[in-house]
Amino acid sequence: MGGVVLRAEDLSFAYPGVPLFSGVDLQLYAGETKVLLGPSGSGKTTLIHLLAGIERPKKGRIFWGDVEITALPEEKLARLRRGFLGLVFQRHHLLPELTVAQNVALPGLIAGRVDWERVRTLLFRVGLSGAADRRPPQLSGGERQRVAVARALYSRPSLILADEPTGALDADNSRKVLALLLELAEAEGAALFVATHDAHLVRGLPAFALQSGRLVPVGWA
Ligand SMILES: Nc1ncnc2c1ncn2[C@@H]1O[C@H](COP(=O)(O)OP(=O)(O)OP(=O)(O)O)[C@@H](O)[C@H]1O
Ligand SMILES: [Mg+2]
Repeated sequence: MGGVVLRAEDLSFAYPGVPLFSGVDLQLYAGETKVLLGPSGSGKTTLIHLLAGIERPKKGRIFWGDVEITALPEEKLARLRRGFLGLVFQRHHLLPELTVAQNVALPGLIAGRVDWERVRTLLFRVGLSGAADRRPPQLSGGERQRVAVARALYSRPSLILADEPTGALDADNSRKVLALLLELAEAEGAALFVATHDAHLVRGLPAFALQSGRLVPVGWA
């Protein structure tokens, strides 16, 4: 395992009149996975947004590697994010007019240079080699989410943040997509932080729960 990829210190966040959490500390090493549990409304998405630098904490500091992102201006953060972070959401956010391969290559297409070998490898790893030229509307929900996983990994991110990546899937597909995320993150040496409300799905994994505004380790009985 490499060094610390993500470190959060004493994070606090509130929406106007809605205190969500305080005193949140978190550390993730390269190749490590941690799960974020908590009921609907407990603040999982908000915490993921803070860690992604999409939202700023009211108090506390967040580091990506050695860089304190809570101290970075927006443009610098956006540039750093492109190489550092892979995101997976509940709904896949694929572009329907692009092919599956182009969707995986999207970060490269935006940057003007695509590693098609990388795209082929990732599609193979998520079991979609045969679907490269199809378009997202021609895929099942589980297949689309596997494309989203491949896309999140395309840029070889150090950190993968996944917010309810299986939230729109049945139990069988949920297990498949989670297994792929865990397997690929580990194989690539990325740190993975997954938010879900489905404790059953992530049973046995190192997990924390947002409870009354605090991040508490989950002990699996
Ligand atoms: N922009 C906003 N302004 C005010 N309150 C908000 C805003 N966004 C979210 N909230 C509130 O903050 C709380 C936490 O929301 P969040 O989306 O982080 O929860 P969550 O744990 O991800 O829930 P879910 O499991 O349903 O996705 C909720 O009570 C929500 O209503
Ligand atoms: Mg949420």
